[in-house]
Amino acid sequence: KWTTTSIVDETVAAVRERIGNARAICGLSGGVDSAVAGALVNKAVGDQLTCVFVDHGLLRSGERTQVERDFVAATGARLVVIDAVEQFTEALAGVTDPEEKRKIIGREFIRTFERAARDLQQEAGQAGEQVEYLVQGTLYPDVVESGGGSGTANIKSHHNVGGLPEDLQFDLVEPLRSLFKDEVRRVGLEMGLPETIVHRQPFPGPGLAIRIIGEVTPRRLETLRAADAIAREELTASGVDRDIWQCPVVLLADVQSVGVQGDGRTYGHPVVLRPVSSEDAMTADWTRLPYEALERISTRITNEVADVNRVTLDVTSKPPGTIEWE
Ligand code: XMP
Repeated sequence: KWTTTSIVDETVAAVRERIGNARAICGLSGGVDSAVAGALVNKAVGDQLTCVFVDHGLLRSGERTQVERDFVAATGARLVVIDAVEQFTEALAGVTDPEEKRKIIGREFIRTFERAARDLQQEAGQAGEQVEYLVQGTLYPDVVESGGGSGTANIKSHHNVGGLPEDLQFDLVEPLRSLFKDEVRRVGLEMGLPETIVHRQPFPGPGLAIRIIGEVTPRRLETLRAADAIAREELTASGVDRDIWQCPVVLLADVQSVGVQGDGRTYGHPVVLRPVSSEDAMTADWTRLPYEALERISTRITNEVADVNRVTLDVTSKPPGTIEWE
């Protein structure tokens, strides 16, 4: 019988057999797929697995804690967190072009991950072992879309954490290869992962960097992070967060408009709310959010986030608009 419990048991057994006594490494993105893949492999081989989380400073509020504290508490997995905030900030300085941002982030991510993998390799080598396996959270739809190939072929390369380099020369372990997203979520809950991870909205690998239209600076990141946290809080509070696919909050950092707050004139930035409904992100419709939720989000953001004096709503479907602005 194909129950969630049997999926877990069978996957764990298969992974245990595959990895044997070798060591494995798993890059966590903060998202549900890599978390569930990591949790399954950890259940199978325990400390033979090391999870790696790169904090590039482009994360949403609370995401690092979710991995550092909640993922570890739920799984007991061995975790290495790499603080790469400065490295990414420097690499992105002065860059405004969306594709350029993506390329830089992808490159720095791979560099960071490779460094972590080498360190781990060295540490393992001293113990007379080898890190042989790389865990990836590839889902069944990804396998189908890439022609059912080895799992390294990947059309939606941008959907994987940094599209890890092949010359790292690990064999891939993909415990979610036969599962759909909803099954992954059920497995995650069964394994005791918290709802905040299991039901997290999709969040792009390049993070908040592609939601700041203009140069990415620490101050702008702080502004967007605060606005995004408020939007998420209010969407959760009004009970609509499960109805939407995701709701990017975009900071128009190069646009300023006049406002009046308190007794004074302001000259601040607008944010855009981009709530979308979708089945697979290939197409999407803008979500008709309740006015009460919009009102609360707008009031709170303009009251609580210093540099923002206007909240706007994106009512474009995909196509013609993509979900993200960059
Ligand atoms: P677009 O903007 O292309 O987004 O309509 C479709 C879905 O993909 C997500 N997205 C990404 N995810 N790395 C990712 O892991 C990326 O570079 C990336 N770009 C977009 C986006 O959030 C949406 O869910």
